Amino acid sequence: MNPQELIQAALDAKKHAYVPYSKFPVGAALLTKSGKIYTGCNVEIGSIGLTICAERTAVVKAVSEGEKEFSAICCVADTEEYCSPCGACRQFIAEFGMDTVVIMANKHGDYKTAPISGLLPHAFVLDKELD
Ligand code: THU
Repeated sequence: MNPQELIQAALDAKKHAYVPYSKFPVGAALLTKSGKIYTGCNVEIGSIGLTICAERTAVVKAVSEGEKEFSAICCVADTEEYCSPCGACRQFIAEFGMDTVVIMANKHGDYKTAPISGLLPHAFVLDKELD
């Protein structure tokens, strides 16, 4: 996995952010174990609590296309700081595997990484029904 490719995809996705309220665009790019990339941006709604983060947009796009196994997800904002996923997005990422690598990038494309297990220790887990 080339982090730079995922970071560039997240930077490109950020351009589509719909952020009339916060003016804080975020982009995300999710790499599946099958090698596909799904991107996402934040989408803000006037009823503010309905806002969807970039990372969750990417996860929902992938799962709704039949992909549920992920290697890495990158998130980036227009900031000097590395963009770190919010708690709700961490729970979304953790749902599909605790080994997913989170690439937290800044606007220059610099980054740091951590497995989601490190960003969401003691995650809430609900047993899945096995077929
Ligand atoms: N946001 C994301 O897209 N991802 C995160 O992990 C945290 C925050 C968005 C939500 C909102 O549109 C804007 O950033 C400011 O909070």
